[in-house]
Amino acid sequence: MNRFNLIIPVTEYSPDEELDSIYMDLIKAAYSACSASYAPFSKFNVGAAVLLENGEIIEGGNQENTAYPSGICAERVALFYANSRCPETPVTAIAIASSVSGIPCRKPVYPCGLCRQSLLQCEQRFRKNIRVFMAGSEKIQMVESIKDLLPLGFEFEI
Ligand code: THU
Repeated sequence: MNRFNLIIPVTEYSPDEELDSIYMDLIKAAYSACSASYAPFSKFNVGAAVLLENGEIIEGGNQENTAYPSGICAERVALFYANSRCPETPVTAIAIASSVSGIPCRKPVYPCGLCRQSLLQCEQRFRKNIRVFMAGSEKIQMVESIKDLLPLGFEFEI
């Protein structure tokens, strides 16, 4: 038998700390995308902003539905929109933010399991790590790759 621990390297920033301007813009875009959220049921507005290798930023907000499972998270709205608009352009980062009644939430928002799996697929597709910025008004956390949030994730090798 062998036991081992997995260590997840997380970088934490205070909200007033200066990040590279492109990541500042990305986080701002994630907050701005909260207004694109349609969340009549949870009232929890999530915004995501995807950074492409060419510098373009693509935003999405969570979209809920009366048939609850039909709803989709902000991350996948932004990611799939980016991938379908620019199928040849790698994704290099995503920022996620949330608000309730227009007030940014204190805690960072972490992507759900389905979004982690979708981001993992995107990393594999373009063979490029995706930085994940998880923003809250009290702190911002960042991992260098979605693999840090989905260790031992499903990969398919023939
Ligand atoms: N949600 C997201 O958009 N992203 C996440 O990472 C977690 C949850 C959405 C789904 C639903 O519309 C609302 O937040 C409440 O769960």
